[in-house]
Amino acid sequence: MENTLKLLSDVLNPVTGKSLTEENRWVNTEAKESGELIVTYKRDGIPPKEKRLIEDKIIESLSGSYDPEKVLVKTISSEGTSNEPAQKPTAAHASLKVGHGVNGNKKRIPGVKKVIAVSSCKGGVGKSTVAVNLSLSLKALGNTVGMLDADIYGPSLPLLLNKKGAKPEATSNKKIKPLEAYGMKFISFGLFINDNDPVIWRGPMLGGVLNQFFFDTDWGELDYLIIDLPPGTGDTQLSLVQNTEVDGVVVVSTPQSVAIADTIKGLRMFQQVNIPIIGMVENMAYFSPEGKEEKYYIFGKDGVKNIAKELEVEFLGSIPLEMVMREGGDSGKPYMVDDSYKDNEGYRSYVDIAQKVAKINKEKGFLGKLFK
Ligand SMILES: Nc1ncnc2c1ncn2[C@@H]1O[C@H](COP(=O)(O)OP(=O)(O)OP(=O)(O)O)[C@@H](O)[C@H]1O
Ligand SMILES: [Mg+2]
Repeated sequence: MENTLKLLSDVLNPVTGKSLTEENRWVNTEAKESGELIVTYKRDGIPPKEKRLIEDKIIESLSGSYDPEKVLVKTISSEGTSNEPAQKPTAAHASLKVGHGVNGNKKRIPGVKKVIAVSSCKGGVGKSTVAVNLSLSLKALGNTVGMLDADIYGPSLPLLLNKKGAKPEATSNKKIKPLEAYGMKFISFGLFINDNDPVIWRGPMLGGVLNQFFFDTDWGELDYLIIDLPPGTGDTQLSLVQNTEVDGVVVVSTPQSVAIADTIKGLRMFQQVNIPIIGMVENMAYFSPEGKEEKYYIFGKDGVKNIAKELEVEFLGSIPLEMVMREGGDSGKPYMVDDSYKDNEGYRSYVDIAQKVAKINKEKGFLGKLFK
């Protein structure tokens, strides 16, 4: 127990800012034969939201020594009433394995600190472009970043990262070795098929392919794994949220494509499976001719900002339409790797958005559930 308590010494009570150790709140840590660790603390005066933050922090603090899935956090009040553990051991349910996918128990990817999905309700709004440039911006902040292209019908990463035609190798222990581009590891279904292969057989393979990409790929140690999702709320999203612990979602929209009903549907899907919405990005927000200040709101003004406000999710920022952004995509040299754009609004916006994403992740903690 002593050692475990040492690991827990930096868990703070967000209400007072003092550690739980200082406040004498630890009651017990009990290691079960089954491998579970039950941590019990006194909860008096801690409201539900802060309780969740504490839970996250406990699991994070122990993650070097204990499997996060096996840590159960219990609370008691001074009247002695005890709450159920926040996470109960999951009983094995029977499940159908469609396309060799695994349904049911969500797993974390070993070595990967945060898994963030980039999602949109509609196609063609710039998800892949945002995913790549956001990843590079997170990398520029000093993070180790990998990218997973989960769009098996329209994979984009091989083109966007200039690796069309490259074939991933297997490692000695038969894992997929991700390719490397611009200092990021990445994997894409597009690396395993030819452009004119029929797509009809891709659907049934989906679950299996995604699982391999997540769990049989040699990701090594990553601060962030960014997932480029296909548009909408289809099978890929479902397979993803069933099998993998996703730490948050960034939703991309253009000002005119935010039909509120679609957006709510998309957000609700993630909400139902307890995946936090990190925030919304407004892409193609406006156009400014070169060297001019004025902004033309081609697709309407503030559509995404307004909807984010209405749905009470964070607005992360606006990316303007810039021709060089499209050219960067087509030529496989992403916008954010070119320093000569660093005074452009788009460039600055990406830096800002990456900083917000990194900050939100830190604040909300490991496995944080922040849907407002
Ligand atoms: N801010 C921008 N300025 C200029 N061009 C952009 C911008 N954002 C995206 N594009 C261009 O728009 C096109 C569509 O972008 P992208 O492929 O990233 O969208 P997507 O949402 O991933 O599409 P899909 O739904 O097919 O996956 C690409 O040609 C891309 O280069
Ligand atoms: Mg795409």
